[in-house]
Amino acid sequence: MENKEAALIKNEFLLKKDSTFLNFGSFGACARPVFERYQRYQLELEEEPVHFMMDKASGYLKRSREALANYINCAADDVVYVTNPSYGVNIIAKSFPLQPGDEVLTSNLEYGACDRAWDYYCKKKGATYRPLPIRLPLESKDDFINQFAAGIHPKTKLIFLSHITSATALRFPIEEVCSLAKQKGIPVFIDGAHAPGQVPIDLATLGADMYTGACHKWMMTPKGSSFLYVSKAWQHYFDPLLISWGYEAVAASASRFLDYHEMQGTRDLSAFLTIPDAIEFMQKNNWPQVSRYCRDMVKQNAGRFCELLQTKPLAPLTDDFIAQMLSLEIKTANAMELHDILFRQYKIQVPIMQLGNRSFLRFSIQGFNTRQDLDKLYDAVKDLISKGLIIT
Ligand SMILES: Cc1ncc(COP(=O)(O)O)c(C=O)c1O
Repeated sequence: MENKEAALIKNEFLLKKDSTFLNFGSFGACARPVFERYQRYQLELEEEPVHFMMDKASGYLKRSREALANYINCAADDVVYVTNPSYGVNIIAKSFPLQPGDEVLTSNLEYGACDRAWDYYCKKKGATYRPLPIRLPLESKDDFINQFAAGIHPKTKLIFLSHITSATALRFPIEEVCSLAKQKGIPVFIDGAHAPGQVPIDLATLGADMYTGACHKWMMTPKGSSFLYVSKAWQHYFDPLLISWGYEAVAASASRFLDYHEMQGTRDLSAFLTIPDAIEFMQKNNWPQVSRYCRDMVKQNAGRFCELLQTKPLAPLTDDFIAQMLSLEIKTANAMELHDILFRQYKIQVPIMQLGNRSFLRFSIQGFNTRQDLDKLYDAVKDLISKGLIIT
C-alpha cells in the first residue's frame, strides 16, 4: 500500500485532518459510509417511531445479528448485542455460578473496568478474582502458556483473559489457552474488546465458552455497538442485567438468551444495525490487505522506538503477539500531562496507558496511517526526552 492509498482510506473517515491520529485503539473511529447508514437509521426511526420500533426493529436486528454471527463464525442465536464489552463482562460476572472459595483466574494485564466488575461480583459470592502476574517480555507462546498454566488449581472455576490486552497491546495465545482449559474442564471467557476487525475471529474453532467484543473499535461502527457470545451449554446461567420485557417474555422468541439480553424496551438500536454495513465496508476495501499493511508498519517501526526509549518489545514482533498496536514502556513523572502535551503541542493523538505503576506509550496503526505519522511521533518523543519529560 502506498501513501496515496492511505490518503484515500483517510477520506473514508470523519477524523479531522489537523492532528496525527495514532489512537484507534481507545474508541475506534466510524467509517463514513457506516456513519451515514447509522444516521439514516436514526432518521427512519424519528420519521415513524412507532412503526420502526414495533414492526421493523426486530427484523433489522435479526439481519444484523446474522451478519455478525457469520463474521465471527457462530450461530446467530448464540450472540447478543450489548453497548460495550464491560456490559458483556457484567452479565457474565453477575450470574456465573461461583461458590465461596472458588476462583476466577486471569492475568495482571487485563482492562481495569473488567477487573473491577469481576472483583465486585467475586467478593459478593465469597470467591476470588486472581490476576496472575505475567512476566514480560514474553518469549514465546509456550512461555505464556507455561506461566498461565502454573496458576490453574482445583478451585479455578473460570479463566477470563483478553484476546488483545489494552495497556500492553499484546495478542494472547487464546487458542492454546482454550484447548488447555478444555483438557482441564475449565470454561473460558475471552475479553475480545480489541479483536473484531483487527484479527480474525472464528468462535466455532476457538471453542471459548463466552466471548465479548467491541464493534465500535476496529470494526469501525458507531459507539455503543458490542456483542456477547455465550455457547448454548452456558446460556441458561445468565440473567438479564436489566430486567425488562425479555424476562418471562409475553411474546417470547425461540431463544430465551436473545429475549433476556436484547429485549429491553425503548433504546436506540441504530448502532447495532450498522454491523452489516461495516462488514461490507471492510470487504469492499480489502481489509485483510489493509490489516497486513498496518501490522507490517507496526513491526517495521518497533525497533527504532525501542532504541529511542531504551526499552524492549513486550513480546516477539510476530503476528502471534502483535497486531495493529504497539505498547512501549516509558518512564514519566506525569502520564496525563504527557498525553496532553503530545496532543496540544505536537498535535498527536496517542495514549499513555497506565497499568499499576507502569506507563506505556501505545500507538495504533489504521489503514490511513503512514510512516510519516510515526516519524512525527518519533520526533516528538525525542524532543520530550531532551526536555526530561520522558526519562530514559
Ligand atoms: C481489553 C479491553 N477490555 C474491555 C474494554 C471495555 O470497554 P468499555 O469500557 O467500552 O466497556 C476495553 C476498552 O478499551 C479494553 O481495552
